[in-house]
Amino acid sequence: MKEETDNTGFFEVVKARRSVRIFDQKEAFDHEVVQKCLETATLAPNSSNLQLWEFYRIPETSPLKYKLAKLCMGQKAATTARELVVIVARRDKWKSRAKANYDHIQERFKNAPAHKQKQALSYFGNLIPKLYSKYPLWSFVKNMIALFVGFARPMVREVSETDVRISVHKSAALAAMTFMYAMKAEGYDTCPMEGFDSKRVKKLLDLPSGAEINMIIGCGKGLPEGIYGDRFRVPNEEVIFEK
Ligand SMILES: Cc1cc2nc3c(=O)[nH]c(=O)nc-3n(C[C@H](O)[C@H](O)[C@H](O)COP(=O)(O)O)c2cc1C
Repeated sequence: MKEETDNTGFFEVVKARRSVRIFDQKEAFDHEVVQKCLETATLAPNSSNLQLWEFYRIPETSPLKYKLAKLCMGQKAATTARELVVIVARRDKWKSRAKANYDHIQERFKNAPAHKQKQALSYFGNLIPKLYSKYPLWSFVKNMIALFVGFARPMVREVSETDVRISVHKSAALAAMTFMYAMKAEGYDTCPMEGFDSKRVKKLLDLPSGAEINMIIGCGKGLPEGIYGDRFRVPNEEVIFEK
C-alpha cells in the first residue's frame, strides 16, 4: 500500500541519528520524552505479536544509575547518560503473552462461525505452545520434525531453542531501534550498548534467570565531541542486491 505522505522528516531522522558517547550534563533533560518514545517503541513489529520485551528506565536520579553505568564497563555513553534504558528479552513470559493474544482473538472472533474461531485460535492455542514449550530433548525433536517435514514441503527451519531465543532478541532489537529513532525525532541522542555485564545487570534490576538483556541505551543531548568520527558504511553495492 503506497500512500502519498511527506516522508522527508523520517529520512532526516534516520540520517541524523548517530551513536553518541558523551551527553550534555547542563541542559535540562525531559525524562517524559523517554516514556513517550518507549510507548512508541511498543508499536514495533514483533514475532507472533507476543511482545516478549520489557523496558526498564533508569533516570539520572535513580539510585541504580551509577551502579548500572559501571556495569556498562564504565563507558562514557553510560556514565554521562541522563537516563539509561535497559531493553530486556522475556522469552520466559511466552505463556501469559500468548494468552493475551488468545483472549484478544477470542473477543474479535466471538461472532464468527465456530470453524473460523477454531482456526484463528489454533495459532496461539496450538502452534505457539509447540514452539515455545520447554521439555527435555524438545529442541532436538523440533529440529528433526523441521528436517523431515522440510523434505516434502517448504518448512520453517528455525525452530530450535536457540532459534526461539534469537527470534525474541530480534523483536526486542526492533523495539530498541524504534525507540532510538523516536528519541532522535524528539531532538535527543542515544547510544545502544552491548558492552555490559549481563549477569550483574540482571541482579541489579532483580530480574529472573529467564530474562535476557538485549541492549542498554544511553540517552541525552549529545555533545559534538560525543560523536567519534565521521559516519562510515561499506559501499551499498556490497550489501544491497537485486536478484
Ligand atoms: C547491538 C549493538 C551494540 C552496540 N554496543 C556498543 C557499545 O557497547 N558501546 C558503544 O560505544 N557503541 C555500541 N554500539 C554502537 C555502534 O558502535 C554504532 O552503531 C556503529 O559504530 C555505527 O555508528 P552509528 O550508530 O553512529 O551510525 C552498538 C550498536 C549496536 C547496534
